[in-house]
Amino acid sequence: MATAFADPVIPFPGFDRASDDNILVNPEAMADESVHAVYNRLRDEDPVHWCAPTGYRPFWAVTRHADITTVSKANNRFINSKRTYLAPADAEKWTLDTIGDTHLFRSLVDLDDPLHMKLRRLTHDWFLPANLRKLEPMISAVAKDHVDRMAALGGECDFVNEVALFYPLRVIMRILGVPESDEPMMLRMTQEMFGAQDPDVVARSKLITTGIGALSGSSGNPQVDLFQLAQEYFAYFGAITADRRANPRDDLSTIIANGTVDGEPIGEKEAMSYYVITATAGHDTTSSTAAGGFEQLVRNPDQLARLQADLSLLPSAVEEMIRWVTPVKHFMRTATEDCELGGRKILAGDGLCLFYWSGNRDARVFADPFAFKVDRSPNPQTAFGNGVHMCLGLHLARLEIRLLLAELLPRIKTVELAGEPKNSIANFVSGRKTLPIRYTFR
Ligand code: HEM
Repeated sequence: MATAFADPVIPFPGFDRASDDNILVNPEAMADESVHAVYNRLRDEDPVHWCAPTGYRPFWAVTRHADITTVSKANNRFINSKRTYLAPADAEKWTLDTIGDTHLFRSLVDLDDPLHMKLRRLTHDWFLPANLRKLEPMISAVAKDHVDRMAALGGECDFVNEVALFYPLRVIMRILGVPESDEPMMLRMTQEMFGAQDPDVVARSKLITTGIGALSGSSGNPQVDLFQLAQEYFAYFGAITADRRANPRDDLSTIIANGTVDGEPIGEKEAMSYYVITATAGHDTTSSTAAGGFEQLVRNPDQLARLQADLSLLPSAVEEMIRWVTPVKHFMRTATEDCELGGRKILAGDGLCLFYWSGNRDARVFADPFAFKVDRSPNPQTAFGNGVHMCLGLHLARLEIRLLLAELLPRIKTVELAGEPKNSIANFVSGRKTLPIRYTFR
């Protein structure tokens, strides 16, 4: 275990060890972005940092782009199944004591090879650009509906609540074959999953779903709430599995429901987790990127004008939005053997936290990393991770954001902020929860 290893950190000047370690896990520090001050210092002075925040099992904080990439690619030396993301130690213990597993879900990000690769292969081809091309007309139509909705709102709206939140939701629900009438419920469940640390997000999910059934998130114990949420997801997708086995359709749910590994149907927990990661990872991440990315265009009128004048820059603008927002703030790995990283001795069993937002502001890789440039090139952003777990939906995410901008930008004449945007309070998947704008359309 990590604690057997003598503390290797020699604190550097100006480094307040206790509070900086806490900042790295603090959802408020993600929300007000003060975490960047700590990331910046760590990248320069202690890039593989032994971090012991209050209430969490200690871990190595990996903050440089190169080290994040090295760890991500060495998937045998650094595995996923032991510890996937930062959860308080008491929450981890509660889950283990209650269900006999440290994981409520066993989705692709929680698994290691060989099972991980066998499961990933089931949908791998489906997520490739060649297959996604046939979805373009559907996605463009959904994008156009949302831009029309903006136009109908008459010049002022909260871009998150009117466009960014619902557009990727509708796309992923169409892909899964979930009826539109169930979208509010799916939205609530995603919001409760990633937004449980933020009272505003919880309140919004209540508002959205008023009248459509009991809410989870009311026990007073976040882990119990998450457990109840998992039960809800499993019940919902259990019914979908039964339906798609009896009546196969041309949707992703049919592929998951009828998937086999080594000639056997995939396990129930793996199947349910597959739907859940697709529904959740395929929604909140893209929403946050669309909102935070569009905000940068609003804040940088020269960049907006450049892009409007030359839509061939859309792919590089999308990449820059993804780098800028980095909606998934971290994933974790566990070392399987003693090794060295960034001059530090890592012991078998140590946890490592890959801070993608920090990697995406690394001046060793990105010139002027805190500037937003629609033509940034090269742009080896690390927001999708790397190696065998690299985001399965990355082509879909890029496509969705590009098609939204392709509908929106030619119609926008003027746009400005109509208030200060706010981030969600979360330390795992996060982004703008409000983006008030004022605009005119051509
Ligand atoms: C995995 C980011 C959109 C589905 C991941 C990982 C990251 C990530 C960081 C883990 C990578 C690693 O551990 O190396 C993002 C970002 C997105 C996005 C930034 C949008 C801008 C999507 C979409 C979908 C999706 C649209 C699907 C509908 C998945 C799945 C995995 C994954 C299934 C697990 C892959 C595996 O473990 O093999 N994503 N994601 N993501 N993502 Fe995404």
